[in-house]
Amino acid sequence: MKLFLTSFVEPDIYQKTLYPFEYEGHIDHLLIASEDIKARIKQLATVLHYDYKGKRPVLLCTLKGACPFYVHLMDALQEFRQGYEMEFVRASSYEGTCTTGKVRLSALDPESLRNKHVLVIEDILDTGTTLSRLIPCLKECCPASIEVVALLDKRLEQKKKKCSAKYIGFSVPDDFVIGYGIDYNQRYRDLKDICVISEAGIAFDSSNLPM
Ligand code: IMP
Ligand code: MG
Repeated sequence: MKLFLTSFVEPDIYQKTLYPFEYEGHIDHLLIASEDIKARIKQLATVLHYDYKGKRPVLLCTLKGACPFYVHLMDALQEFRQGYEMEFVRASSYEGTCTTGKVRLSALDPESLRNKHVLVIEDILDTGTTLSRLIPCLKECCPASIEVVALLDKRLEQKKKKCSAKYIGFSVPDDFVIGYGIDYNQRYRDLKDICVISEAGIAFDSSNLPM
């Protein structure tokens, strides 16, 4: 089944969001409210259930950013009585050997993907560099199939994208987004909505945050 449901999001359609007090001034504007994220995830789950009915895909969560998306997607799949397996991966570039284009995968048992239908659950697809390195590594684990489910896909010129996702939640403008698990220097994962960071947020010194 083809996914024709990509929602195009324009900025400034919402005025306010809730956030921890210490982030005052760090948000430029709210981009996608949590209710809209959850509604969209239900639509994604509908399509995934259609495509994977009778199968038990491995939902592979890319840590840490995709965690909230992962949890809500599993909730939505359970409503359809869609079975799945859970795996987690953390991808980081090999230190000093970036030129090899390889990533180090941790928290993943390669045997868990063998002959399985794998759905890589990603928070945000920007240039596709991360995925273009991750997917070949995952293919070495001999899965039956691999597809990518990305909550956000940044609107870039297509030629700047090294990789694309079959299932996409929202197509968003090319701004730096935070919240709903997505960070800037490990901050802002704890926002319930997806927002665009302000210049003050970018300039903020993390050591000023409470412990
Ligand atoms: P890509 O490799 O260019 O596709 O970027 C993907 C990764 O970069 C994401 O998984 C994020 O970790 C990070 N990233 C890209 N754009 C943003 C953003 O707007 N906010 C936060 N992280 C981002
Ligand atoms: Mg990610």
